[in-house]
Amino acid sequence: MMMHDVVSAIRATWVTTLCSSILGILSCAAPAAAPRQPEKAQPAAAQPERRAEAEEGKPATMKAVRIHAFGDVSVLQQEEVPRPAPQEGEMLVRVIAAGVNPVDAKSREGYLKQSMGDRLPFVLGLDVAGVVEQVGTGVTRFRKGDAIYAFLDRTRGGGYAEYAIVKEGEAAPKPSTLSFREAAAVPLAGLTAWQGLFETASLAKGQTVLIQGGSGGVGVYAIQLAKEREARVVATASTRNQELLRELGADQAIDYTKTKFEDVVRNVDVVLDNVGGDTTTRSLDVIRKGGFLATLLVAPEAAALSQRGIQGARVQAYPDAATLAKMTELIDARKVRPLVSEALPLAEVRKAHEMIASRHTRGKIVLVVADEP
Ligand SMILES: NC(=O)c1ccc[n+]([C@@H]2O[C@H](COP(=O)([O-])OP(=O)(O)OC[C@H]3O[C@@H](n4cnc5c(N)ncnc54)[C@H](OP(=O)(O)O)[C@@H]3O)[C@@H](O)[C@H]2O)c1
Repeated sequence: MMMHDVVSAIRATWVTTLCSSILGILSCAAPAAAPRQPEKAQPAAAQPERRAEAEEGKPATMKAVRIHAFGDVSVLQQEEVPRPAPQEGEMLVRVIAAGVNPVDAKSREGYLKQSMGDRLPFVLGLDVAGVVEQVGTGVTRFRKGDAIYAFLDRTRGGGYAEYAIVKEGEAAPKPSTLSFREAAAVPLAGLTAWQGLFETASLAKGQTVLIQGGSGGVGVYAIQLAKEREARVVATASTRNQELLRELGADQAIDYTKTKFEDVVRNVDVVLDNVGGDTTTRSLDVIRKGGFLATLLVAPEAAALSQRGIQGARVQAYPDAATLAKMTELIDARKVRPLVSEALPLAEVRKAHEMIASRHTRGKIVLVVADEP
């Protein structure tokens, strides 16, 4: 079965399994070892206060999903809010689709208060695909009418809305081979996979990588990117996703519900851990001396790494227009594909958040904000 057939099959047979583990999805701890990627400063940028003016001098408005308090999915409110205006280096983008990420649910629950501050009400959403409506001064790479996609800074958010402010340094041209819905599934998860494999863990051609959680938002890209780098890929997921792992390119697929990965894997060069908890700890013993554990969740203790002669760090994904442009090239060369398992209207944002919190999403969920142009 080809990938697009898998995607279609998934659309037809989507099942949600609610087994949320707050601790497992929480990922705000500090790394145990210094990360290899340069830590980009994350200035505490407030959501835009500047408002666009409508023709009669009244503020222009838009639909957006905001939270006024941290809590369960009931705090997600679709409202009419002022439309922001782009400042220097920024663009106003008409959002066609917005990606949903586990971090959105964590932000809603209040676990990222430290970086979000108490700037409520807040428009969630870090992934957008849309059309440039207006450019601020100093924007040189994009013009009104361009189709773009972007990973928005986590302290600013703003993706679950009809219009979003996108900094030029967060955006790349949308892959021409993808719909806007598919494109909205790429930026955050695709960049996390890239940065985790190549910047944090320095995965090289010919090495073996174990990708824990290969069927999820990040894992789907990680398998394809590692294969593109000519690595040998071992990936884990549950029974229903075994065929998907192989379709994505995994050389060895492990069903974690039937087999302990440590019984069948040893001496890998790199682990990319998208799962956390017990999976992180057990992964330490399958890495060769000198190898690397890159986890998206809580990094292991430095002592646990040094005892085994390995290195490790928590990946901290960040917006990067240049790498996103490389993703565009790979996608348009048909070397990497997104997998959208659910495309829900913006009004169904609460359902999308319930699904993402299950930790058993296949590929990505996106919110459809407007019709494809
Ligand atoms: N630090 C960062 O910058 C950063 C960036 C992105 C994401 N994250 C975090 O990283 C985690 C993964 O993100 P994501 O977007 O890939 O999440 P996701 O889409 O929710 O991934 C879920 C996938 O994990 C698989 N899975 C669940 N339990 C597993 C287990 N015990 N062993 C192997 N696979 C398992 C599921 O497969 P089955 O359904 O088959 O079980 C599912 O396909 C989230 O907690 C997210 O918040 C952190």
